[in-house]
Amino acid sequence: MNIQETIQKRRSVRTYTGEALKEEQIAAITNFIAGLQPLYNTKVRIEMLSVFMDNQPIKLGTYGKIAGAKNFLALIYENAPFAEEAAGYQFEQVILFCTELGLGTCWLGSAYNPKDFKKQIQLAENETLAIVSPVGYAAEKQRFLERLVNVDKFHCTRKPFSELFFNQTFDTPLTEETAGIYAAPLSMLRLAPSGHNRQEWRVVKDNRILHFYKTPSPTATIDIGIALCHFVETCKELNINGKLEFLEKSSNDNLQYVVSWSN
Ligand SMILES: Cc1cc2nc3c(=O)[nH]c(=O)nc-3n(C[C@H](O)[C@H](O)[C@H](O)COP(=O)(O)O)c2cc1C
Repeated sequence: MNIQETIQKRRSVRTYTGEALKEEQIAAITNFIAGLQPLYNTKVRIEMLSVFMDNQPIKLGTYGKIAGAKNFLALIYENAPFAEEAAGYQFEQVILFCTELGLGTCWLGSAYNPKDFKKQIQLAENETLAIVSPVGYAAEKQRFLERLVNVDKFHCTRKPFSELFFNQTFDTPLTEETAGIYAAPLSMLRLAPSGHNRQEWRVVKDNRILHFYKTPSPTATIDIGIALCHFVETCKELNINGKLEFLEKSSNDNLQYVVSWSN
Protein backbone atom coordinates (compact mmCIF):
# COMPACT_ATOMS: atom_id res chain seq x y z
CA MET A 1 0.00 0.00 0.00
CA ASN A 2 1.31 3.48 -0.81
CA ILE A 3 0.34 5.17 2.44
CA GLN A 4 0.64 8.79 1.31
CA GLU A 5 -1.46 8.22 -1.82
CA THR A 6 -4.07 6.27 0.13
CA ILE A 7 -4.29 8.91 2.89
CA GLN A 8 -4.92 11.53 0.21
CA LYS A 9 -7.57 9.37 -1.47
CA ARG A 10 -9.54 8.55 1.72
CA ARG A 11 -12.67 10.53 2.51
CA SER A 12 -15.80 9.78 4.49
CA VAL A 13 -18.38 8.03 2.29
CA ARG A 14 -21.95 8.16 3.59
CA THR A 15 -23.98 6.93 0.61
CA TYR A 16 -23.43 3.36 -0.64
CA THR A 17 -24.82 1.44 -3.62
CA GLY A 18 -26.66 -1.13 -1.47
CA GLU A 19 -24.52 -4.06 -2.75
CA ALA A 20 -22.98 -6.46 -0.22
CA LEU A 21 -19.19 -6.79 -0.25
CA LYS A 22 -17.76 -9.60 -2.38
CA GLU A 23 -16.49 -12.65 -0.45
CA GLU A 24 -12.90 -12.08 -1.62
CA GLN A 25 -12.94 -8.53 -0.29
CA ILE A 26 -14.28 -9.69 3.08
CA ALA A 27 -11.50 -12.31 3.15
CA ALA A 28 -8.82 -9.71 2.26
CA ILE A 29 -10.02 -7.36 5.02
CA THR A 30 -10.27 -10.08 7.69
CA ASN A 31 -6.77 -11.35 6.74
CA PHE A 32 -5.40 -7.82 7.03
CA ILE A 33 -7.03 -7.43 10.46
CA ALA A 34 -5.59 -10.78 11.61
CA GLY A 35 -2.07 -9.59 10.68
CA LEU A 36 -2.21 -6.32 12.69
CA GLN A 37 0.40 -6.03 15.44
CA PRO A 38 -0.89 -4.86 18.86
CA LEU A 39 0.51 -1.54 20.11
CA TYR A 40 1.99 -1.57 23.63
CA ASN A 41 0.25 -4.88 24.45
CA THR A 42 -3.15 -3.21 24.14
CA LYS A 43 -6.02 -5.50 23.13
CA VAL A 44 -8.04 -4.31 20.16
CA ARG A 45 -10.52 -6.36 18.17
CA ILE A 46 -12.04 -5.31 14.87
CA GLU A 47 -15.09 -7.29 13.77
CA MET A 48 -16.65 -7.48 10.35
CA LEU A 49 -20.47 -7.49 10.43
CA SER A 50 -23.09 -7.85 7.76
CA VAL A 51 -26.80 -7.04 7.62
CA PHE A 52 -27.21 -10.68 6.54
CA MET A 53 -25.71 -13.33 8.82
CA ASP A 54 -26.45 -17.03 8.16
CA ASN A 55 -29.01 -15.85 5.59
CA GLN A 56 -30.97 -14.03 8.30
CA PRO A 57 -31.46 -10.25 8.16
CA ILE A 58 -29.71 -8.46 11.05
CA LYS A 59 -30.57 -4.95 12.21
CA LEU A 60 -27.52 -2.66 12.33
CA GLY A 61 -29.09 0.77 12.66
CA THR A 62 -27.35 3.95 11.55
CA TYR A 63 -28.71 7.46 11.71
CA GLY A 64 -29.00 10.46 9.46
CA LYS A 65 -26.66 10.61 6.58
CA ILE A 66 -25.58 6.95 6.24
CA ALA A 67 -27.46 5.01 3.54
CA GLY A 68 -27.12 1.78 1.54
CA ALA A 69 -24.43 0.11 3.70
CA LYS A 70 -24.59 -3.69 3.95
CA ASN A 71 -21.27 -4.37 5.73
CA PHE A 72 -19.72 -2.76 8.78
CA LEU A 73 -16.52 -2.81 10.78
CA ALA A 74 -16.79 -2.50 14.57
CA LEU A 75 -13.92 -1.37 16.80
CA ILE A 76 -13.68 -2.84 20.29
CA TYR A 77 -10.87 -2.40 22.80
CA GLU A 78 -10.05 -3.76 26.24
CA ASN A 79 -9.93 -0.86 28.73
CA ALA A 80 -6.31 -0.04 29.64
CA PRO A 81 -3.94 2.94 29.44
CA PHE A 82 -3.31 3.99 25.80
CA ALA A 83 -5.85 1.38 24.58
CA GLU A 84 -8.23 3.93 23.04
CA GLU A 85 -5.39 5.64 21.17
CA ALA A 86 -4.09 2.24 19.98
CA ALA A 87 -7.62 1.32 18.87
CA GLY A 88 -7.83 4.53 16.81
CA TYR A 89 -4.45 3.74 15.24
CA GLN A 90 -5.38 0.18 14.27
CA PHE A 91 -8.85 1.00 12.98
CA GLU A 92 -7.35 3.66 10.72
CA GLN A 93 -4.90 1.06 9.37
CA VAL A 94 -7.94 -1.02 8.38
CA ILE A 95 -9.77 2.02 6.96
CA LEU A 96 -6.73 2.82 4.79
CA PHE A 97 -6.52 -0.82 3.66
CA CYS A 98 -10.20 -0.66 2.61
CA THR A 99 -9.50 2.63 0.79
CA GLU A 100 -6.66 0.89 -1.05
CA LEU A 101 -9.18 -1.81 -2.11
CA GLY A 102 -11.33 0.99 -3.59
CA LEU A 103 -13.99 0.75 -0.85
CA GLY A 104 -15.77 3.56 0.96
CA THR A 105 -15.78 3.90 4.77
CA CYS A 106 -16.89 6.45 7.36
CA TRP A 107 -15.83 6.55 11.03
CA LEU A 108 -19.03 6.69 13.13
CA GLY A 109 -18.77 7.68 16.77
CA SER A 110 -22.42 8.52 17.32
CA ALA A 111 -24.52 8.01 14.18
CA TYR A 112 -25.31 4.35 14.90
CA ASN A 113 -27.39 2.29 17.31
CA PRO A 114 -24.90 0.69 19.75
CA LYS A 115 -27.54 -1.79 21.00
CA ASP A 116 -27.87 -3.37 17.53
CA PHE A 117 -24.12 -3.73 17.18
CA LYS A 118 -23.55 -4.99 20.74
CA LYS A 119 -26.04 -7.82 20.08
CA GLN A 120 -23.67 -9.11 17.38
CA ILE A 121 -20.30 -8.69 19.08
CA GLN A 122 -20.79 -9.85 22.69
CA LEU A 123 -18.72 -7.39 24.67
CA ALA A 124 -16.74 -8.67 27.66
CA GLU A 125 -17.10 -6.63 30.86
CA ASN A 126 -13.82 -4.77 30.36
CA GLU A 127 -14.39 -4.06 26.66
CA THR A 128 -15.70 -0.90 25.00
CA LEU A 129 -17.38 -0.63 21.61
CA ALA A 130 -15.75 2.57 20.37
CA ILE A 131 -16.63 3.09 16.73
CA VAL A 132 -18.28 1.47 13.75
CA SER A 133 -17.79 2.15 10.06
CA PRO A 134 -19.78 1.11 7.03
CA VAL A 135 -17.58 -0.49 4.38
CA GLY A 136 -18.79 -0.86 0.83
CA TYR A 137 -19.12 0.57 -2.64
CA ALA A 138 -19.56 4.31 -2.74
CA ALA A 139 -22.62 5.48 -4.68
CA GLU A 140 -21.72 7.90 -7.42
CA LYS A 141 -24.35 10.41 -6.43
CA GLN A 142 -24.64 11.78 -2.91
CA ARG A 143 -28.13 11.71 -1.49
CA PHE A 144 -30.12 14.91 -1.10
CA LEU A 145 -29.56 14.95 2.71
CA GLU A 146 -25.81 14.53 2.29
CA ARG A 147 -25.71 17.41 -0.20
CA LEU A 148 -28.00 19.53 1.98
CA VAL A 149 -25.67 19.45 4.99
CA ASN A 150 -22.68 19.68 2.64
CA VAL A 151 -20.67 17.04 4.49
CA ASP A 152 -17.91 17.29 1.89
CA LYS A 153 -17.00 20.78 3.08
CA PHE A 154 -15.50 19.12 6.17
CA HIS A 155 -13.45 16.80 4.01
CA CYS A 156 -11.78 19.68 2.26
CA THR A 157 -11.12 21.85 5.30
CA ARG A 158 -8.19 21.30 7.56
CA LYS A 159 -6.56 23.89 9.82
CA PRO A 160 -3.36 25.40 8.41
CA PHE A 161 -0.09 23.57 9.19
CA SER A 162 1.05 26.48 11.37
CA GLU A 163 -2.05 26.25 13.65
CA LEU A 164 -1.47 22.57 14.38
CA PHE A 165 2.30 22.21 14.57
CA PHE A 166 4.84 24.19 16.59
CA ASN A 167 8.59 24.66 16.85
CA GLN A 168 10.10 24.25 20.36
CA THR A 169 7.19 25.97 22.13
CA PHE A 170 3.52 26.64 21.43
CA ASP A 171 4.47 30.29 20.73
CA THR A 172 6.31 29.51 17.49
CA PRO A 173 4.41 27.98 14.57
CA LEU A 174 6.19 25.29 12.59
CA THR A 175 6.30 25.75 8.81
CA GLU A 176 6.76 23.04 6.19
CA GLU A 177 10.28 24.42 5.69
CA THR A 178 11.24 24.30 9.39
CA ALA A 179 9.64 20.84 9.76
CA GLY A 180 12.50 19.33 7.67
CA ILE A 181 12.09 15.56 7.17
CA TYR A 182 8.84 15.69 9.13
CA ALA A 183 7.06 17.97 6.60
CA ALA A 184 5.49 14.98 4.78
CA PRO A 185 4.52 12.91 7.88
CA LEU A 186 2.94 16.01 9.48
CA SER A 187 1.14 16.91 6.23
CA MET A 188 -0.32 13.38 6.24
CA LEU A 189 -1.27 13.73 9.94
CA ARG A 190 -3.12 16.94 9.02
CA LEU A 191 -5.37 14.91 6.67
CA ALA A 192 -6.44 12.54 9.45
CA PRO A 193 -10.20 12.26 9.92
CA SER A 194 -11.49 13.42 13.30
CA GLY A 195 -14.88 13.59 15.04
CA HIS A 196 -16.77 16.63 13.63
CA ASN A 197 -13.49 17.43 11.85
CA ARG A 198 -12.34 19.11 15.09
CA GLN A 199 -8.64 18.27 14.54
CA GLU A 200 -7.90 18.31 18.25
CA TRP A 201 -4.30 17.27 17.87
CA ARG A 202 -1.18 19.47 18.23
CA VAL A 203 2.50 18.61 17.78
CA VAL A 204 5.58 20.41 19.13
CA LYS A 205 8.89 19.69 17.38
CA ASP A 206 11.88 19.92 19.67
CA ASN A 207 14.81 19.23 17.33
CA ARG A 208 14.74 15.44 16.77
CA ILE A 209 11.80 14.77 19.11
CA LEU A 210 8.15 15.46 18.36
CA HIS A 211 5.66 15.71 21.23
CA PHE A 212 1.99 14.91 20.55
CA TYR A 213 -0.83 16.62 22.45
CA LYS A 214 -4.63 16.44 22.41
CA THR A 215 -7.40 18.56 23.86
CA PRO A 216 -9.27 17.28 26.96
CA SER A 217 -12.41 16.56 24.90
CA PRO A 218 -13.55 12.90 25.19
CA THR A 219 -13.48 12.39 21.42
CA ALA A 220 -9.89 13.63 21.10
CA THR A 221 -8.39 10.37 22.42
CA ILE A 222 -9.44 8.23 19.50
CA ASP A 223 -8.63 11.11 17.13
CA ILE A 224 -5.00 11.29 18.31
CA GLY A 225 -4.68 7.54 17.64
CA ILE A 226 -5.77 8.11 14.04
CA ALA A 227 -3.35 11.05 13.73
CA LEU A 228 -0.48 8.91 15.08
CA CYS A 229 -1.31 6.23 12.51
CA HIS A 230 -0.96 8.74 9.64
CA PHE A 231 2.26 10.16 11.09
CA VAL A 232 4.03 6.89 12.02
CA GLU A 233 2.98 4.94 8.91
CA THR A 234 4.24 7.80 6.69
CA CYS A 235 7.56 7.86 8.60
CA LYS A 236 7.86 4.10 7.98
CA GLU A 237 7.16 4.57 4.27
CA LEU A 238 9.83 7.29 4.05
CA ASN A 239 12.36 5.24 6.09
CA ILE A 240 12.41 7.86 8.84
CA ASN A 241 13.54 5.81 11.82
CA GLY A 242 12.09 6.48 15.24
CA LYS A 243 9.81 5.18 17.93
CA LEU A 244 6.92 6.28 20.09
CA GLU A 245 7.78 6.69 23.76
CA PHE A 246 6.18 8.21 26.83
CA LEU A 247 8.23 11.10 28.29
CA GLU A 248 7.73 13.32 31.32
CA LYS A 249 5.96 16.27 29.70
CA SER A 250 3.47 18.57 31.35
CA SER A 251 -0.10 19.18 30.23
CA ASN A 252 -2.22 22.28 30.77
CA ASP A 253 -5.97 22.99 30.87
CA ASN A 254 -6.19 23.12 27.08
CA LEU A 255 -3.73 20.48 25.95
CA GLN A 256 -2.84 17.06 27.35
CA TYR A 257 0.47 15.40 26.58
CA VAL A 258 0.03 11.98 24.92
CA VAL A 259 3.31 10.57 23.58
CA SER A 260 6.54 11.52 21.79
CA TRP A 261 8.34 10.35 18.65
CA SER A 262 12.11 10.28 18.82
CA ASN A 263 14.85 9.04 16.54
C1 LIG B 1 -13.81 9.39 15.85
C2 LIG B 1 -14.69 9.87 14.73
C3 LIG B 1 -16.07 9.87 14.87
C4 LIG B 1 -16.89 10.27 13.79
N1 LIG B 1 -18.26 10.20 13.93
C5 LIG B 1 -19.05 10.51 12.88
C6 LIG B 1 -20.47 10.35 12.97
O1 LIG B 1 -21.00 9.91 14.01
N2 LIG B 1 -21.22 10.69 11.87
C7 LIG B 1 -20.66 11.14 10.71
O2 LIG B 1 -21.40 11.41 9.74
N3 LIG B 1 -19.32 11.33 10.59
C8 LIG B 1 -18.49 11.00 11.62
N4 LIG B 1 -17.13 11.12 11.52
C9 LIG B 1 -16.53 11.56 10.24
C10 LIG B 1 -15.97 12.99 10.33
O3 LIG B 1 -17.04 13.91 10.31
C11 LIG B 1 -15.01 13.22 9.14
O4 LIG B 1 -13.92 12.34 9.27
C12 LIG B 1 -14.49 14.64 9.08
O5 LIG B 1 -15.54 15.55 8.85
C13 LIG B 1 -13.45 14.82 7.97
O6 LIG B 1 -13.97 14.47 6.71
P1 LIG B 1 -13.26 13.31 5.87
O7 LIG B 1 -13.31 12.03 6.67
O8 LIG B 1 -14.09 13.21 4.58
O9 LIG B 1 -11.84 13.73 5.59
C14 LIG B 1 -16.30 10.73 12.57
C15 LIG B 1 -14.91 10.74 12.44
C16 LIG B 1 -14.11 10.30 13.50
C17 LIG B 1 -12.62 10.27 13.32
